[in-house]
Parts: sequence; C-alpha cells; structure tokens
Amino acid sequence: MKTRHLGKSGPEISEIGFGAWAIGGNWGPQGESDSISALERALDLGVSFIDTAAGYGNGKSEKIIAQMLKGRDERVTVATKTQPMPGDWPPSPYDKVEDRYAESYLREHIEERLRFLETDCLDLLQLHTWTRAWNSNPEPFAVLKELKKEGKIRLAGVSTPEHDQNSVIDLMRGGWVDVVQVIYNFFEQEPAAELLDVAQETGVGVIVGVPFDEGSLTGKFTEEFTFPEGDFRRDYFAGDRMPRTVKRVEAIKKELEDSGYTMAQAALKFILAHPAVSTVIPGMRNAAQAEANAAVSDLSEMPEDLLGRLRAHAWRRAFWYDGK
Ligand SMILES: NC(=O)c1ccc[n+]([C@@H]2O[C@H](COP(=O)([O-])OP(=O)(O)OC[C@H]3O[C@@H](n4cnc5c(N)ncnc54)[C@H](OP(=O)(O)O)[C@@H]3O)[C@@H](O)[C@H]2O)c1
Repeated sequence: MKTRHLGKSGPEISEIGFGAWAIGGNWGPQGESDSISALERALDLGVSFIDTAAGYGNGKSEKIIAQMLKGRDERVTVATKTQPMPGDWPPSPYDKVEDRYAESYLREHIEERLRFLETDCLDLLQLHTWTRAWNSNPEPFAVLKELKKEGKIRLAGVSTPEHDQNSVIDLMRGGWVDVVQVIYNFFEQEPAAELLDVAQETGVGVIVGVPFDEGSLTGKFTEEFTFPEGDFRRDYFAGDRMPRTVKRVEAIKKELEDSGYTMAQAALKFILAHPAVSTVIPGMRNAAQAEANAAVSDLSEMPEDLLGRLRAHAWRRAFWYDGK
C-alpha cells in the first residue's frame, strides 16, 4: 500500500482509505460482522485512514470503528464530521452561520465525537457541509482553531456541498482548513478545474469521496437494477436515472477493454493520478470489497493516453442526493 501526506499539516496515510458511511446506515441491510471484517481486512492490507461522520447512523459508524481499533496496534488516522444544526441540507444561502454552526453546538458535538471514537483528540474534524454564503464570516473555523489549541482536534477540514464544491476554495486560500473532502470521479470532474490546483498551491490535503458514484462506476449495475428498502440509492437512482447511468458506464467500460483494469480499479486509479489527491476513500461493506479496493494501490499507474480518454466521460448531471 502506497502512502501520501494528508496535506502539509497532516500525517502520512494510505492512498486508499476506508469510506465508512455504509457501515453506519442508509445503505439497506448491513450486518455488523461484515462491517467489522471489512475494516479489519482493510487495515490488514495497509489501509491507515478511515473517514466517518456523526451522521453515518447517528454515531453508529464511529462506534464500530472505535470498537474495532481497540484490538489493534497500528497507527490509524480517523476523520469524522460534524453536521450543521437541524435545517436545510445543503444549507440555504439565507441561513446565518451562527444558527447552523453555533460555537456551543460545535463544542458539544465535538465532545460527543471524542466519546464515540473513544479518544481524547480527533485526528481530523470536518464540517460536513457548507455554503459560500458563509465565506465572508467563517467563524466556525475560528472555533476549530481554538479547539486545536485546546488539544481536542489535530486538523480542521470541510466536506464540500455537492452542488457547489468550489465554494470551499476561499476557505483554502484563507488558511481556514487543513483538509477538504471532495467528490471527484469519472462523472464529476469539476474539481480538476481549480480546486485541486488550489490544494496543491496551499498544501491543503484532499480526501476524495464517492469514487464509484455510489456503486455505478464499479460497472455492476444493470438498467433494471433496484435497491433494497432502506438503501438511499432507491432515491439517488430513482426513475430513469439508472438506465441513463448504465449507458454512460457501458461507454467507459469500452474505453477500458484492453487496459487490464476492471471498472472499480480504473475508477480508483483515475482519481489517484491527480497529484493533489491525498487519499481516495471507497465505501466498503465486506472483506471482499476491502481486498479488491486495497489491492488497487499496487497496480500499475494509469497511462496518460487512457487518462485523457477517460476525462472525456465527465457528466454534468448535477447531484442527486435529494432524490426525484
Ligand atoms: N458529503 C460527504 O461528506 C460525503 C458524501 C458521500 C460519501 N462520503 C464519504 O465517501 C465515502 C465513499 O463514498 P460512498 O461510500 O458514498 O460511495 P462509493 O465509494 O462511490 O461507493 C461505495 C459502494 O460501492 C460498492 N463497492 C465498494 N467497493 C466495491 C468493489 N470493489 N466492487 C463492487 N462494488 C463495490 C459498495 O456498495 P454495494 O456493495 O451495496 O454496491 C459500497 O458501499 C463514504 O463512505 C463517506 O466516507 C462523504
């Protein structure tokens, strides 16, 4: 497993990290023993970075990670997230930052993260979403700076609002964040326009989430594919979205025919080819997925001509988290 630095202020971490949303909830039936064996197998194979959030099963994902890490000696960097106080998601441009990320709320919420992750200092605390309306008053990040001084968090970050990822660029340039979490994959390539270059200029670490477009970019779905009750992808891929997605995926598969990569491997290698990326965090639900994803680090790098052809598959379709 190759490693990279999590920006200029962060530790060395595995270039393939563990996305821990699905082990928390909202992805249909997920057995806890599968979640634990996915985590254990990933760590056995050199994964040393885990991304979770308070919102992944209301702390469930964090608690499973804490339980699993108890029995292990290796140094693992765990990133978690604090969501805004109840209200619109993503935040409305009319929201006041003090109504969504009040200092007292942030402090209480972060104390809970410390308890759930069973640690006295969080490696990385990310604000789970943002709006550019708050860039002129990034007060919550001033609170996170204080929490760093108090020894409660090591690094501060932000996870981009999906519809306006570039809204965090001002925070990066302003020195407010050590790390950003972005969506960057075959379909969503807008971060390559500016955000990733700014990360390199400023030394801000980059975590890439949703590398498989919630599974479609592994190439395993058919046009008729449906998801079980309780899986948010029933909304995400609602109506005609699955057939439209599968058509795009089939075109990418053709591009990969003689490449030697599977779709899932190519999806991860494409992301890792950008030098601004610190780690890519595919979601993993079982040991087999952990094995498949961790193994990608050791495969040969993606050749420039294939990268160029895959760049042409960007799809400006906007984001689907709200469903139809
Ligand atoms: N705004 C945010 O902050 C935000 C939003 C989304 C995600 N994230 C972070 O990014 C991480 C990754 O994104 P994600 O989990 O949403 O989606 P993803 O990585 O695009 O897709 C993950 C899903 O693909 C399937 N899968 C994984 N490895 C596979 C393989 N090798 N072959 C075939 N299928 C495979 C699994 O689902 P099935 O087996 O059920 O198909 C898995 O849950 C999250 O876990 C979370 O940590 C952050």
